Amino acid sequence: VRKSQPAIVTIFGVTGDLTKRKLLPALFNLALDRHLPEQFLAIGVARRGDLETFRVDMREGIDQFSRRVPASQDSWNAFANKLDYLVGGFSDPTLYERLLVRIRQAEAEWGTKASRVFYMATPPEVFGTISDGLGAVGLGGDHDCDRIVVEKPFGTDLQSAKELQAQLLRTFQENQIYRIDHYLGKETVQNILALRFANTLFEPIWNRRYVDHVQITVAEAVGLEGRGGYYEGSGALRDMIQNHLLQILCLIGMEPPVSFDADEVRNKKAEVLRAVRRIALGEVRQYAVRGQYGATRETTGYRQEAGVQADSSVETYAALKLFIDNWRWQGVPFYLRTGKKLARRMSQVVISFRPVPHQAFPPDASEAFEENRLVIDIQPDERITMRFLAKEPGARMRLRAVNMEFCYDQAFSAPSREAYETLLQEVVEGNPTLFMRIDQQEAAWEIVAPILESWLGTPSTSFPNYAPESWGPEGADLLLAREGHRWFNNAVA
Ligand SMILES: NC(=O)c1ccc[n+]([C@@H]2O[C@H](COP(=O)([O-])OP(=O)(O)OC[C@H]3O[C@@H](n4cnc5c(N)ncnc54)[C@H](OP(=O)(O)O)[C@@H]3O)[C@@H](O)[C@H]2O)c1
Repeated sequence: VRKSQPAIVTIFGVTGDLTKRKLLPALFNLALDRHLPEQFLAIGVARRGDLETFRVDMREGIDQFSRRVPASQDSWNAFANKLDYLVGGFSDPTLYERLLVRIRQAEAEWGTKASRVFYMATPPEVFGTISDGLGAVGLGGDHDCDRIVVEKPFGTDLQSAKELQAQLLRTFQENQIYRIDHYLGKETVQNILALRFANTLFEPIWNRRYVDHVQITVAEAVGLEGRGGYYEGSGALRDMIQNHLLQILCLIGMEPPVSFDADEVRNKKAEVLRAVRRIALGEVRQYAVRGQYGATRETTGYRQEAGVQADSSVETYAALKLFIDNWRWQGVPFYLRTGKKLARRMSQVVISFRPVPHQAFPPDASEAFEENRLVIDIQPDERITMRFLAKEPGARMRLRAVNMEFCYDQAFSAPSREAYETLLQEVVEGNPTLFMRIDQQEAAWEIVAPILESWLGTPSTSFPNYAPESWGPEGADLLLAREGHRWFNNAVA
Protein backbone atom coordinates (compact mmCIF):
# COMPACT_ATOMS: atom_id res chain seq x y z
CA VAL A 1 0.00 0.00 0.00
CA ARG A 2 1.52 3.27 -1.07
CA LYS A 3 0.58 6.51 0.59
CA SER A 4 -0.08 9.42 -1.67
CA GLN A 5 -1.50 12.88 -1.48
CA PRO A 6 -5.30 13.32 -1.82
CA ALA A 7 -6.48 12.95 -5.39
CA ILE A 8 -9.33 14.19 -7.55
CA VAL A 9 -9.87 12.43 -10.87
CA THR A 10 -12.17 14.30 -13.24
CA ILE A 11 -13.33 12.19 -16.16
CA PHE A 12 -14.70 14.04 -19.17
CA GLY A 13 -17.10 11.93 -21.26
CA VAL A 14 -18.26 9.59 -18.47
CA THR A 15 -21.37 8.47 -20.34
CA GLY A 16 -19.07 6.64 -22.79
CA ASP A 17 -18.07 3.04 -23.19
CA LEU A 18 -14.49 3.47 -21.96
CA THR A 19 -15.54 4.85 -18.57
CA LYS A 20 -18.03 2.10 -17.94
CA ARG A 21 -15.92 -0.82 -19.14
CA LYS A 22 -12.46 0.24 -18.03
CA LEU A 23 -12.01 3.42 -16.02
CA LEU A 24 -14.54 3.04 -13.21
CA PRO A 25 -13.90 -0.69 -12.70
CA ALA A 26 -10.18 0.15 -12.52
CA LEU A 27 -10.70 2.94 -9.98
CA PHE A 28 -12.97 0.70 -7.94
CA ASN A 29 -10.36 -2.08 -7.83
CA LEU A 30 -7.66 0.42 -6.88
CA ALA A 31 -9.90 1.58 -4.03
CA LEU A 32 -10.50 -2.02 -2.91
CA ASP A 33 -6.75 -2.69 -2.92
CA ARG A 34 -6.20 0.55 -1.01
CA HIS A 35 -4.02 1.95 -3.76
CA LEU A 36 -6.00 5.18 -3.84
CA PRO A 37 -5.59 7.79 -1.15
CA GLU A 38 -8.26 7.84 1.54
CA GLN A 39 -9.12 11.37 0.46
CA PHE A 40 -10.28 10.69 -3.06
CA LEU A 41 -12.96 12.08 -5.34
CA ALA A 42 -13.95 11.07 -8.88
CA ILE A 43 -15.97 13.69 -10.74
CA GLY A 44 -17.84 12.57 -13.83
CA VAL A 45 -18.45 15.19 -16.49
CA ALA A 46 -20.73 14.76 -19.50
CA ARG A 47 -23.20 16.66 -21.59
CA ARG A 48 -26.16 14.73 -20.13
CA GLY A 49 -27.15 12.69 -17.06
CA ASP A 50 -27.00 13.22 -13.29
CA LEU A 51 -25.25 11.80 -10.24
CA GLU A 52 -27.86 9.15 -9.48
CA THR A 53 -27.91 7.77 -13.03
CA PHE A 54 -24.12 7.88 -13.07
CA ARG A 55 -23.91 5.82 -9.87
CA VAL A 56 -26.41 3.24 -11.15
CA ASP A 57 -24.60 3.02 -14.47
CA MET A 58 -21.20 2.64 -12.89
CA ARG A 59 -22.41 -0.02 -10.46
CA GLU A 60 -23.70 -1.91 -13.47
CA GLY A 61 -20.39 -1.46 -15.28
CA ILE A 62 -18.43 -2.69 -12.28
CA ASP A 63 -20.65 -5.74 -11.84
CA GLN A 64 -20.23 -6.56 -15.50
CA PHE A 65 -16.60 -5.69 -16.20
CA SER A 66 -14.60 -5.62 -12.99
CA ARG A 67 -12.13 -8.47 -12.52
CA ARG A 68 -13.69 -9.02 -9.09
CA VAL A 69 -17.42 -9.55 -9.25
CA PRO A 70 -19.85 -9.04 -7.71
CA ALA A 71 -18.94 -5.97 -5.67
CA SER A 72 -20.12 -6.17 -2.06
CA GLN A 73 -22.71 -3.59 -1.06
CA ASP A 74 -20.44 -2.12 1.63
CA SER A 75 -17.46 -1.67 -0.64
CA TRP A 76 -19.67 -0.19 -3.34
CA ASN A 77 -21.33 2.24 -0.91
CA ALA A 78 -17.94 3.44 0.32
CA PHE A 79 -16.80 4.00 -3.26
CA ALA A 80 -20.09 5.55 -4.46
CA ASN A 81 -19.71 8.23 -1.76
CA LYS A 82 -16.55 9.35 -3.52
CA LEU A 83 -18.32 10.00 -6.83
CA ASP A 84 -19.72 13.30 -7.99
CA TYR A 85 -21.15 14.58 -11.27
CA LEU A 86 -21.26 17.73 -13.38
CA VAL A 87 -23.34 18.25 -16.51
CA GLY A 88 -22.40 20.67 -19.25
CA GLY A 89 -21.21 21.21 -22.79
CA PHE A 90 -17.43 21.13 -23.15
CA SER A 91 -17.39 24.55 -24.79
CA ASP A 92 -19.43 26.11 -21.97
CA PRO A 93 -17.07 28.21 -19.78
CA THR A 94 -19.37 27.90 -16.73
CA LEU A 95 -18.72 24.13 -16.68
CA TYR A 96 -15.08 24.76 -15.78
CA GLU A 97 -16.03 27.40 -13.22
CA ARG A 98 -18.30 24.87 -11.49
CA LEU A 99 -15.57 22.26 -11.65
CA LEU A 100 -13.11 24.65 -10.04
CA VAL A 101 -15.58 25.37 -7.23
CA ARG A 102 -16.10 21.63 -6.61
CA ILE A 103 -12.38 20.91 -6.57
CA ARG A 104 -11.70 23.80 -4.19
CA GLN A 105 -14.51 22.64 -1.93
CA ALA A 106 -12.98 19.15 -1.64
CA GLU A 107 -9.52 20.55 -1.03
CA ALA A 108 -10.89 22.88 1.64
CA GLU A 109 -12.58 19.91 3.38
CA TRP A 110 -9.33 17.95 3.31
CA GLY A 111 -7.31 20.99 4.31
CA THR A 112 -4.72 20.30 1.66
CA LYS A 113 -4.10 20.43 -2.04
CA ALA A 114 -4.95 17.34 -4.07
CA SER A 115 -3.27 15.89 -7.11
CA ARG A 116 -5.73 16.71 -9.87
CA VAL A 117 -6.12 14.41 -12.84
CA PHE A 118 -8.19 15.43 -15.87
CA TYR A 119 -9.01 12.39 -17.99
CA MET A 120 -10.10 12.88 -21.61
CA ALA A 121 -12.49 9.96 -22.19
CA THR A 122 -14.09 11.80 -25.10
CA PRO A 123 -13.58 11.77 -28.84
CA PRO A 124 -10.23 13.41 -29.72
CA GLU A 125 -11.93 16.35 -31.44
CA VAL A 126 -12.81 17.87 -28.06
CA PHE A 127 -9.48 17.27 -26.23
CA GLY A 128 -8.30 20.77 -27.16
CA THR A 129 -11.57 22.47 -26.19
CA ILE A 130 -11.52 20.83 -22.75
CA SER A 131 -7.88 21.66 -22.19
CA ASP A 132 -8.54 25.31 -23.07
CA GLY A 133 -11.61 25.36 -20.81
CA LEU A 134 -9.53 24.09 -17.89
CA GLY A 135 -6.81 26.60 -18.61
CA ALA A 136 -9.27 29.49 -18.70
CA VAL A 137 -10.11 28.97 -15.00
CA GLY A 138 -6.54 28.26 -13.96
CA LEU A 139 -6.87 24.48 -13.73
CA GLY A 140 -3.75 22.87 -15.17
CA GLY A 141 -1.61 25.72 -13.91
CA ASP A 142 -0.06 23.75 -11.04
CA HIS A 143 2.76 21.91 -12.79
CA ASP A 144 3.29 19.48 -9.92
CA CYS A 145 -0.30 18.60 -9.03
CA ASP A 146 -2.32 18.96 -12.25
CA ARG A 147 -2.18 16.27 -14.95
CA ILE A 148 -4.10 15.65 -18.15
CA VAL A 149 -4.61 12.12 -19.48
CA VAL A 150 -5.16 11.81 -23.20
CA GLU A 151 -6.63 8.70 -24.76
CA LYS A 152 -5.52 7.39 -28.11
CA PRO A 153 -5.50 8.36 -30.90
CA PHE A 154 -3.11 11.26 -30.36
CA GLY A 155 -3.68 12.85 -33.75
CA THR A 156 -4.35 11.06 -36.99
CA ASP A 157 -0.96 11.83 -38.51
CA LEU A 158 2.20 13.76 -37.65
CA GLN A 159 0.72 17.14 -38.48
CA SER A 160 -2.46 16.69 -36.43
CA ALA A 161 -0.44 15.27 -33.51
CA LYS A 162 1.66 18.43 -33.56
CA GLU A 163 -1.45 20.59 -33.65
CA LEU A 164 -3.03 18.74 -30.72
CA GLN A 165 0.21 19.06 -28.77
CA ALA A 166 0.29 22.81 -29.44
CA GLN A 167 -3.29 23.05 -28.17
CA LEU A 168 -2.54 21.13 -24.98
CA LEU A 169 0.60 23.19 -24.35
CA ARG A 170 -1.58 26.31 -24.03
CA THR A 171 -2.60 24.95 -20.60
CA PHE A 172 -0.29 22.08 -19.67
CA GLN A 173 3.44 21.45 -19.84
CA GLU A 174 4.76 18.31 -21.50
CA ASN A 175 5.54 16.66 -18.14
CA GLN A 176 1.86 17.05 -17.16
CA ILE A 177 0.56 15.28 -20.28
CA TYR A 178 -0.02 11.52 -19.89
CA ARG A 179 -0.69 9.83 -23.25
CA ILE A 180 -2.27 6.47 -22.63
CA ASP A 181 -1.29 3.36 -24.51
CA HIS A 182 -3.03 0.69 -22.47
CA TYR A 183 -0.63 -1.95 -23.77
CA LEU A 184 2.08 -0.38 -21.64
CA GLY A 185 0.03 -1.07 -18.52
CA LYS A 186 -0.15 -4.80 -19.16
CA GLU A 187 1.86 -6.96 -16.76
CA THR A 188 3.19 -9.10 -19.60
CA VAL A 189 4.41 -6.05 -21.50
CA GLN A 190 6.11 -4.57 -18.44
CA ASN A 191 7.68 -7.95 -17.83
CA ILE A 192 9.66 -7.58 -21.06
CA LEU A 193 11.85 -5.11 -19.16
CA ALA A 194 12.21 -7.53 -16.24
CA LEU A 195 13.08 -10.37 -18.58
CA ARG A 196 15.70 -8.36 -20.40
CA PHE A 197 17.26 -6.32 -17.63
CA ALA A 198 16.83 -8.35 -14.43
CA ASN A 199 18.52 -11.42 -15.91
CA THR A 200 22.06 -11.96 -17.15
CA LEU A 201 20.94 -14.74 -19.43
CA PHE A 202 19.31 -12.88 -22.29
CA GLU A 203 21.16 -9.60 -22.74
CA PRO A 204 24.38 -11.10 -24.18
CA ILE A 205 22.45 -12.75 -26.99
CA TRP A 206 19.94 -9.92 -27.54
CA ASN A 207 21.57 -8.56 -30.69
CA ARG A 208 22.31 -9.08 -34.37
CA ARG A 209 24.95 -11.77 -33.69
CA TYR A 210 22.36 -14.15 -32.27
CA VAL A 211 18.93 -12.87 -33.25
CA ASP A 212 17.83 -13.73 -36.76
CA HIS A 213 14.59 -11.77 -36.76
CA VAL A 214 11.75 -10.63 -34.51
CA GLN A 215 7.99 -11.00 -35.04
CA ILE A 216 5.44 -8.88 -33.19
CA THR A 217 1.82 -9.90 -33.68
CA VAL A 218 -1.35 -8.36 -32.29
CA ALA A 219 -4.14 -10.43 -33.81
CA GLU A 220 -7.80 -9.89 -33.04
CA ALA A 221 -10.47 -12.51 -33.68
CA VAL A 222 -13.26 -9.94 -33.47
CA GLY A 223 -14.31 -7.52 -36.20
CA LEU A 224 -15.51 -3.96 -35.75
CA GLU A 225 -17.88 -4.50 -32.81
CA GLY A 226 -20.09 -1.63 -33.90
CA ARG A 227 -17.23 0.87 -34.25
CA GLY A 228 -17.45 1.23 -38.04
CA GLY A 229 -17.67 5.00 -37.98
CA TYR A 230 -14.49 5.33 -35.94
CA TYR A 231 -12.59 2.65 -37.84
CA GLU A 232 -13.30 4.17 -41.24
CA GLY A 233 -11.26 7.18 -40.15
CA SER A 234 -8.51 5.04 -38.72
CA GLY A 235 -7.54 1.60 -40.07
CA ALA A 236 -5.12 -0.97 -38.66
CA LEU A 237 -1.96 1.07 -39.23
CA ARG A 238 -3.14 4.04 -37.19
CA ASP A 239 -5.27 2.11 -34.71
CA MET A 240 -2.67 -0.49 -33.71
CA ILE A 241 0.76 -0.25 -35.35
CA GLN A 242 1.48 3.43 -34.74
CA ASN A 243 0.99 2.96 -31.00
CA HIS A 244 0.78 -0.54 -29.49
CA LEU A 245 3.08 -2.46 -31.83
CA LEU A 246 5.72 0.26 -32.05
CA GLN A 247 5.72 0.53 -28.26
CA ILE A 248 6.39 -3.19 -27.98
CA LEU A 249 9.13 -2.82 -30.58
CA CYS A 250 10.71 -0.19 -28.32
CA LEU A 251 10.75 -2.54 -25.32
CA ILE A 252 12.33 -5.31 -27.37
CA GLY A 253 14.81 -3.04 -29.13
CA MET A 254 15.88 -0.54 -26.47
CA GLU A 255 19.31 -0.32 -24.87
CA PRO A 256 19.61 -1.13 -21.14
CA PRO A 257 18.51 1.89 -19.11
CA VAL A 258 20.80 3.27 -16.42
CA SER A 259 17.84 3.51 -14.03
CA PHE A 260 14.06 3.17 -14.11
CA ASP A 261 13.67 6.90 -13.91
CA ALA A 262 10.83 7.99 -16.23
CA ASP A 263 12.95 10.09 -18.53
CA GLU A 264 15.75 7.56 -18.72
CA VAL A 265 13.39 4.77 -19.84
CA ARG A 266 11.59 7.05 -22.24
CA ASN A 267 14.88 8.32 -23.70
CA LYS A 268 15.95 4.76 -24.44
CA LYS A 269 12.61 3.98 -26.08
CA ALA A 270 12.65 7.17 -28.13
CA GLU A 271 16.15 6.25 -29.40
CA VAL A 272 14.74 3.04 -30.90
CA LEU A 273 12.04 4.91 -32.79
CA ARG A 274 14.57 7.42 -34.03
CA ALA A 275 16.74 4.56 -35.30
CA VAL A 276 13.96 2.82 -37.22
CA ARG A 277 14.88 3.12 -40.89
CA ARG A 278 12.49 5.47 -42.65
CA ILE A 279 10.70 4.02 -45.65
CA ALA A 280 10.71 6.06 -48.83
CA LEU A 281 7.33 6.69 -50.42
CA GLY A 282 8.34 4.70 -53.51
CA GLU A 283 9.43 1.69 -51.41
CA VAL A 284 6.27 1.15 -49.39
CA ARG A 285 5.31 -2.01 -51.28
CA GLN A 286 8.59 -3.68 -50.28
CA TYR A 287 8.01 -2.99 -46.61
CA ALA A 288 4.28 -2.95 -45.96
CA VAL A 289 1.24 -5.04 -46.82
CA ARG A 290 -2.39 -4.14 -46.22
CA GLY A 291 -5.48 -6.29 -46.10
CA GLN A 292 -9.22 -6.15 -45.62
CA TYR A 293 -11.44 -9.04 -44.61
CA GLY A 294 -14.17 -10.23 -46.91
CA ALA A 295 -17.51 -11.91 -46.31
CA THR A 296 -18.34 -15.56 -45.90
CA ARG A 297 -21.74 -17.17 -46.13
CA GLU A 298 -22.15 -16.77 -42.38
CA THR A 299 -20.38 -13.48 -41.68
CA THR A 300 -20.38 -9.99 -43.15
CA GLY A 301 -17.28 -8.58 -44.75
CA TYR A 302 -15.77 -5.26 -43.70
CA ARG A 303 -17.49 -3.37 -46.49
CA GLN A 304 -20.89 -4.61 -45.35
CA GLU A 305 -20.42 -3.52 -41.72
CA ALA A 306 -22.54 -0.66 -40.34
CA GLY A 307 -20.90 2.73 -40.83
CA VAL A 308 -18.50 1.46 -43.52
CA GLN A 309 -18.42 2.65 -47.16
CA ALA A 310 -19.40 -0.02 -49.69
CA ASP A 311 -16.09 0.55 -51.55
CA SER A 312 -13.96 1.29 -48.48
CA SER A 313 -10.21 1.03 -48.90
CA VAL A 314 -9.55 1.12 -45.16
CA GLU A 315 -7.20 -1.67 -44.08
CA THR A 316 -8.27 -4.08 -41.36
CA TYR A 317 -4.87 -5.77 -41.54
CA ALA A 318 -1.36 -4.36 -41.78
CA ALA A 319 2.05 -6.02 -41.84
CA LEU A 320 5.37 -4.17 -41.83
CA LYS A 321 9.03 -5.07 -42.15
CA LEU A 322 11.18 -2.63 -40.22
CA PHE A 323 14.91 -2.30 -39.58
CA ILE A 324 16.57 -0.57 -36.65
CA ASP A 325 19.72 1.13 -37.87
CA ASN A 326 22.10 0.86 -34.93
CA TRP A 327 24.97 -1.40 -33.82
CA ARG A 328 22.73 -3.81 -31.94
CA TRP A 329 20.14 -4.47 -34.61
CA GLN A 330 21.69 -3.72 -38.01
CA GLY A 331 20.23 -6.09 -40.61
CA VAL A 332 17.74 -7.82 -38.26
CA PRO A 333 14.20 -7.60 -39.65
CA PHE A 334 11.43 -6.73 -37.22
CA TYR A 335 8.12 -7.92 -38.61
CA LEU A 336 4.98 -6.32 -37.22
CA ARG A 337 1.45 -7.44 -38.04
CA THR A 338 -2.02 -6.78 -36.77
CA GLY A 339 -5.49 -7.45 -38.04
CA LYS A 340 -9.14 -7.99 -37.32
CA LYS A 341 -11.11 -11.19 -37.81
CA LEU A 342 -7.95 -13.27 -37.83
CA ALA A 343 -7.76 -16.94 -36.95
CA ARG A 344 -7.29 -16.38 -33.24
CA ARG A 345 -6.78 -13.64 -30.66
CA MET A 346 -3.07 -13.47 -29.97
CA SER A 347 -0.60 -10.79 -28.88
CA GLN A 348 2.85 -12.24 -29.08
CA VAL A 349 6.51 -11.45 -29.60
CA VAL A 350 8.78 -14.09 -31.12
CA ILE A 351 12.54 -13.69 -30.98
CA SER A 352 13.88 -16.12 -33.54
CA PHE A 353 17.56 -16.92 -33.08
CA ARG A 354 20.11 -17.73 -35.74
CA PRO A 355 20.79 -21.36 -36.59
CA VAL A 356 23.88 -23.02 -35.13
CA PRO A 357 27.00 -22.11 -37.11
CA HIS A 358 27.87 -25.73 -37.86
CA GLN A 359 25.54 -28.70 -38.07
CA ALA A 360 27.47 -31.63 -36.57
CA PHE A 361 24.56 -34.05 -36.34
CA PRO A 362 23.91 -36.44 -39.22
CA PRO A 363 21.04 -35.35 -41.47
CA ASP A 364 18.55 -37.90 -40.17
CA ALA A 365 19.24 -36.82 -36.57
CA SER A 366 18.17 -33.30 -37.29
CA GLU A 367 15.27 -33.76 -39.67
CA ALA A 368 13.07 -31.73 -37.33
CA PHE A 369 15.69 -29.05 -36.95
CA GLU A 370 14.45 -25.59 -36.12
CA GLU A 371 16.07 -22.46 -34.72
CA ASN A 372 15.73 -21.56 -31.06
CA ARG A 373 12.85 -19.25 -30.24
CA LEU A 374 11.88 -17.14 -27.30
CA VAL A 375 8.13 -16.61 -27.39
CA ILE A 376 6.58 -13.90 -25.23
CA ASP A 377 2.80 -14.26 -25.05
CA ILE A 378 1.11 -11.04 -23.96
CA GLN A 379 -2.57 -11.97 -24.28
CA PRO A 380 -4.78 -13.94 -23.94
CA ASP A 381 -2.02 -16.40 -22.91
CA GLU A 382 0.37 -14.86 -20.43
CA ARG A 383 3.56 -16.84 -20.63
CA ILE A 384 7.10 -17.02 -21.90
CA THR A 385 8.28 -20.08 -23.78
CA MET A 386 11.83 -21.02 -24.66
CA ARG A 387 11.81 -23.42 -27.57
CA PHE A 388 14.94 -25.46 -28.12
CA LEU A 389 16.11 -28.81 -29.48
CA ALA A 390 16.42 -31.91 -27.33
CA LYS A 391 17.38 -35.51 -27.92
CA GLU A 392 14.39 -37.75 -28.40
CA PRO A 393 14.47 -40.72 -26.01
CA GLY A 394 15.74 -43.85 -27.74
CA ALA A 395 18.84 -45.60 -28.94
CA ARG A 396 19.54 -43.22 -31.80
CA MET A 397 20.40 -39.55 -31.77
CA ARG A 398 17.31 -37.79 -33.05
CA LEU A 399 16.43 -34.21 -32.32
CA ARG A 400 13.08 -32.65 -31.58
CA ALA A 401 12.00 -29.13 -30.57
CA VAL A 402 10.65 -28.88 -27.02
CA ASN A 403 9.29 -26.05 -24.88
CA MET A 404 10.31 -24.70 -21.51
CA GLU A 405 7.50 -22.57 -20.18
CA PHE A 406 6.83 -19.88 -17.61
CA CYS A 407 3.11 -19.18 -17.06
CA TYR A 408 1.99 -16.19 -15.05
CA ASP A 409 -1.00 -17.82 -13.43
CA GLN A 410 1.02 -20.82 -12.31
CA ALA A 411 4.00 -18.86 -11.02
CA PHE A 412 2.06 -16.16 -9.18
CA SER A 413 -1.08 -16.67 -7.15
CA ALA A 414 -2.31 -13.07 -7.48
CA PRO A 415 -4.35 -12.48 -10.64
CA SER A 416 -2.96 -9.95 -13.10
CA ARG A 417 -4.39 -6.51 -12.60
CA GLU A 418 -6.05 -4.70 -15.45
CA ALA A 419 -3.79 -2.40 -17.47
CA TYR A 420 -5.99 0.60 -16.63
CA GLU A 421 -5.51 -0.03 -12.90
CA THR A 422 -1.76 0.21 -13.27
CA LEU A 423 -1.95 3.26 -15.52
CA LEU A 424 -4.45 5.16 -13.38
CA GLN A 425 -2.40 4.50 -10.27
CA GLU A 426 0.71 5.81 -11.99
CA VAL A 427 -1.13 8.97 -13.09
CA VAL A 428 -2.51 9.62 -9.61
CA GLU A 429 0.98 9.17 -8.18
CA GLY A 430 2.55 11.31 -10.89
CA ASN A 431 4.85 8.74 -12.49
CA PRO A 432 4.98 9.14 -16.29
CA THR A 433 7.30 6.17 -17.09
CA LEU A 434 4.55 4.11 -18.73
CA PHE A 435 3.21 6.95 -20.87
CA MET A 436 4.36 8.08 -24.26
CA ARG A 437 6.28 11.30 -24.46
CA ILE A 438 5.64 13.62 -27.37
CA ASP A 439 8.94 12.82 -29.10
CA GLN A 440 8.02 9.11 -29.10
CA GLN A 441 4.58 9.92 -30.37
CA GLU A 442 5.93 12.06 -33.20
CA ALA A 443 8.65 9.58 -34.15
CA ALA A 444 6.00 6.84 -34.34
CA TRP A 445 3.92 8.99 -36.70
CA GLU A 446 7.02 9.68 -38.80
CA ILE A 447 7.64 5.94 -39.20
CA VAL A 448 4.15 5.21 -40.50
CA ALA A 449 3.76 8.49 -42.45
CA PRO A 450 4.94 7.24 -45.89
CA ILE A 451 2.85 4.08 -45.60
CA LEU A 452 -0.18 6.11 -44.62
CA GLU A 453 0.37 8.52 -47.48
CA SER A 454 0.83 5.74 -49.99
CA TRP A 455 -2.24 3.79 -48.84
CA LEU A 456 -4.48 6.83 -48.61
CA GLY A 457 -3.27 8.00 -52.02
CA THR A 458 -3.85 4.70 -53.83
CA PRO A 459 -7.04 2.88 -52.94
CA SER A 460 -6.57 -0.87 -53.01
CA THR A 461 -7.78 -2.72 -56.09
CA SER A 462 -7.59 -6.12 -54.43
CA PHE A 463 -9.76 -5.59 -51.32
CA PRO A 464 -11.21 -7.66 -49.78
CA ASN A 465 -8.12 -9.88 -49.84
CA TYR A 466 -8.37 -12.18 -46.84
CA ALA A 467 -10.97 -14.48 -45.41
CA PRO A 468 -12.24 -14.13 -41.85
CA GLU A 469 -10.58 -16.60 -39.47
CA SER A 470 -7.48 -16.77 -41.67
CA TRP A 471 -4.03 -15.30 -40.92
CA GLY A 472 -4.39 -12.40 -43.34
CA PRO A 473 -3.55 -11.75 -46.99
CA GLU A 474 -1.09 -13.77 -49.03
CA GLY A 475 1.02 -10.68 -49.61
CA ALA A 476 1.98 -10.73 -45.94
CA ASP A 477 3.46 -14.21 -46.34
CA LEU A 478 5.45 -13.02 -49.34
CA LEU A 479 6.80 -10.09 -47.33
CA LEU A 480 8.60 -12.61 -45.11
CA ALA A 481 9.28 -15.22 -47.76
CA ARG A 482 11.49 -12.72 -49.59
CA GLU A 483 13.83 -12.81 -46.57
CA GLY A 484 13.54 -16.58 -46.18
CA HIS A 485 11.18 -16.28 -43.20
CA ARG A 486 7.60 -17.27 -42.39
CA TRP A 487 5.07 -16.08 -39.85
CA PHE A 488 4.84 -18.14 -36.69
CA ASN A 489 1.12 -18.65 -36.36
CA ASN A 490 1.84 -21.24 -33.75
CA ALA A 491 5.30 -20.48 -32.47
CA VAL A 492 5.37 -23.09 -29.73
CA ALA A 493 4.40 -26.13 -31.78
N1 LIG B 1 -13.82 2.28 -25.71
C1 LIG B 1 -12.60 1.80 -25.70
O1 LIG B 1 -12.36 0.65 -25.34
C2 LIG B 1 -11.44 2.68 -26.09
C3 LIG B 1 -10.20 2.08 -26.31
C4 LIG B 1 -9.11 2.89 -26.63
C5 LIG B 1 -9.28 4.25 -26.73
N2 LIG B 1 -10.50 4.80 -26.55
C6 LIG B 1 -10.61 6.26 -26.65
O2 LIG B 1 -11.24 6.73 -25.48
C7 LIG B 1 -12.07 7.84 -25.76
C8 LIG B 1 -13.48 7.55 -25.29
O3 LIG B 1 -13.95 6.37 -25.89
P1 LIG B 1 -15.43 5.85 -25.72
O4 LIG B 1 -15.49 4.55 -26.43
O5 LIG B 1 -15.86 5.93 -24.31
O6 LIG B 1 -16.24 6.92 -26.58
P2 LIG B 1 -17.81 7.14 -26.65
O7 LIG B 1 -18.52 5.96 -26.09
O8 LIG B 1 -18.08 7.54 -28.03
O9 LIG B 1 -18.13 8.40 -25.69
C9 LIG B 1 -17.27 9.26 -25.12
C10 LIG B 1 -17.94 10.39 -24.37
O10 LIG B 1 -17.80 11.56 -25.14
C11 LIG B 1 -19.06 12.22 -25.26
N3 LIG B 1 -19.10 12.92 -26.54
C12 LIG B 1 -19.04 12.39 -27.77
N4 LIG B 1 -19.03 13.36 -28.70
C13 LIG B 1 -19.08 14.53 -28.02
C14 LIG B 1 -19.12 15.89 -28.41
N5 LIG B 1 -19.05 16.24 -29.68
N6 LIG B 1 -19.19 16.82 -27.44
C15 LIG B 1 -19.26 16.46 -26.15
N7 LIG B 1 -19.23 15.20 -25.72
C16 LIG B 1 -19.13 14.24 -26.64
C17 LIG B 1 -20.07 11.14 -25.14
O11 LIG B 1 -21.29 11.74 -24.73
P3 LIG B 1 -22.72 11.10 -25.11
O12 LIG B 1 -22.80 9.82 -24.31
O13 LIG B 1 -23.68 12.13 -24.69
O14 LIG B 1 -22.68 10.85 -26.58
C18 LIG B 1 -19.44 10.29 -24.06
O15 LIG B 1 -19.66 10.87 -22.80
C19 LIG B 1 -11.95 8.07 -27.27
O16 LIG B 1 -10.94 9.03 -27.50
C20 LIG B 1 -11.49 6.72 -27.80
O17 LIG B 1 -10.75 6.85 -28.99
C21 LIG B 1 -11.58 4.04 -26.22
